[in-house]
Amino acid sequence: MRCLAPYTERYIITRLLLAGLFALCFSVKAAEKTAESEEDSTPFNTPELVVADADPLVLGFVDARSKQNLNGTWNFLVDPMGVGAPGGFFGGWASTRTPVDEWQLLEYSYPTARQIRVPGDFNTQFEDVFFYRDRVWYQRVVDVVRKADTRYHLWLGGANFDATIFLNGNPIVRHQGGYVPFSIDVTDQLIEGANDLVVWVNNRLGTDTVPTERTDWWPYGGLARDVMLVETPSAYIVNAKFELDEDGKGLEGSVQTRGFNAGDRVNISIPELSVKTSAQVNEDGLATWQANAKPTLWHPDNPKLYEVSVTAGQDRIQDSIGFKTIETQGHQVLLNGQPIRFTGISTHEEPIGRDGVAYSEQDMRAIFAEAKALGANFVRLAHYPYSRHAAKVADEVGLLLWEEVPIYWNIAWENEETLAIARDQVARLVQRDWNRASVAVWSVANETPYSQARMTFLGQLIDDVRGMDDTRLVSAALLGAMNRELQGVILHLAAEGLVSDIPSEPEKAIFKAILDKAGDQAPEAGSGFAIVIEDPLGELVDMVSYNEYFGWYYSRGIAPQLGVSEKTVRQLILKFMPQMEMRSAFDKPMFISEFGAGAKSGKRGEGVWTEDYQAAVYRAQVAMLANSPQVQGMTPWILKDFRAMLRTLPGIQDYRNRKGIIDENGRHKLAYDVLKDFYNSDWAKP
Ligand code: GCU
Repeated sequence: MRCLAPYTERYIITRLLLAGLFALCFSVKAAEKTAESEEDSTPFNTPELVVADADPLVLGFVDARSKQNLNGTWNFLVDPMGVGAPGGFFGGWASTRTPVDEWQLLEYSYPTARQIRVPGDFNTQFEDVFFYRDRVWYQRVVDVVRKADTRYHLWLGGANFDATIFLNGNPIVRHQGGYVPFSIDVTDQLIEGANDLVVWVNNRLGTDTVPTERTDWWPYGGLARDVMLVETPSAYIVNAKFELDEDGKGLEGSVQTRGFNAGDRVNISIPELSVKTSAQVNEDGLATWQANAKPTLWHPDNPKLYEVSVTAGQDRIQDSIGFKTIETQGHQVLLNGQPIRFTGISTHEEPIGRDGVAYSEQDMRAIFAEAKALGANFVRLAHYPYSRHAAKVADEVGLLLWEEVPIYWNIAWENEETLAIARDQVARLVQRDWNRASVAVWSVANETPYSQARMTFLGQLIDDVRGMDDTRLVSAALLGAMNRELQGVILHLAAEGLVSDIPSEPEKAIFKAILDKAGDQAPEAGSGFAIVIEDPLGELVDMVSYNEYFGWYYSRGIAPQLGVSEKTVRQLILKFMPQMEMRSAFDKPMFISEFGAGAKSGKRGEGVWTEDYQAAVYRAQVAMLANSPQVQGMTPWILKDFRAMLRTLPGIQDYRNRKGIIDENGRHKLAYDVLKDFYNSDWAKP
């Protein structure tokens, strides 16, 4: 055997030794992993992180406080295999590290990563993550010059949908549930000078999350909302609530503080109402107050706001707040004691003219300007809490709001963690917006199928809402088109079809057979027909809200059941909808939270997806709802075409839901004017 040069031999021996060492190390590590987690031997299985929960109380009035705005350019890494998780096989992306020399192996780097804008979803900032639903990492440096007697609160307006924050490499807090603000006092973790802030965000949803993975809107992920380091004195005001008192003769409120002693005073001032009062905090830091005052009540036509301030010790917060009453009386809704009809429209939190999250005040101003131009006095902010800018702008421009948590379609009703996330979202939304005069309705769900577990889950959320705020209506958008309702529609369809020239002769024979079989149940053509909502959730809410898609989806289901063409069913339903009436089995106001139809902007002529057909559906819908005295308002689905992964029809949808009455660029479709004319009609003036 040829004798190898000593160097080569040494090299081979070294390589063999290293290989053996690596294999030993790997096997030890893998053994550790295996020991830790039998079920998942992949090296990426990461141990449960030990972190604190976010502050359960929402830190209010952040716009009035001194703070460091952390919006701007952050470093951004995409981590689909979750290898960055602390403890994971390549774990440790929790802080910025750079190799000490060319020999140190690191397989991630923030300083050389791509840059991303915060706030704003990540999906629409880079093409390669548009459809992405998984883990990403954000990093930036926060320079801090610490002040005496100051607490520092890291505050996020919303991180979609599961966020873990690390400060200087240490796990600080994890918050599950997107769309809502959360904060944590990091005074003891901040260092003087440069702090390394890393946020690990996962926009993957599952069967136990809120919402679940199946949504008809884009799961925009990341640091979608403002991020700030808020400063407060050591003893500070956490939040405060202002409202009209029960008998409407004055004002009352509460102030939640921290760091004060029982007996310390808080001072409330509303100069324009000559309110200047004070109250003592109790041992829980809570102070309640009352004052005589007769404010001009806030109304969409006169959105009157008052400058209010609260001082306590070294802390001072202020805001512009309006006062109104909203209540129900029989089938009516009363705003400031007067009957009102909600001329509304539904939205998603997507700006006009751009994909992604509408994260800024300007975005919301543009959306609400379009709603006002339509003649709307009411906007349904579907299906999740929007940024805090939404209700602030609505207060100013005069729009009533329906705010909602994403308890959407089927939720893991019996999962305790799921309920905890839902309750947290409700609590944060209410605590954030309870001073917003524009908020008229808190909605706890959208289209949830009936079950006892669903009733228990939603009953808990409704109790939570009422426990925090009893000055607004509570509702939920109920699921339409229960089979029982559609059976009635079919009989009327047959009666109409028999005397119409729309169906073919064979189709008329089918209708005749249906009516013969119905015997004396067979309705006369032209006789009215009522859909009656009986969902037991109607007992728990103040306003019975209902999503219905007569003129759009139901025809697709009815036609094959009857063995007639969808064209015939669509044309007949549009013909007899004006004789239909929407009712509920409850002596409460009724509200149509969704109706609509899809149309590709610019497509004209006959048939679905044309603007002409969408407008025909709107004409039939508003006629039907004007014929339904229990219905006190509506928010047709939807203002603008919006991104949705469910909507794949090439050339028509292309991953957009096309039920907007304006398209993604703000171009009005024919249906826009149908709705605008209706909102200008007598129906809108009860
Ligand atoms: C449902 C649902 C919406 C959805 C709409 C549609 O009612 O509430 O989120 O986008 O119908 O089908 O377009």
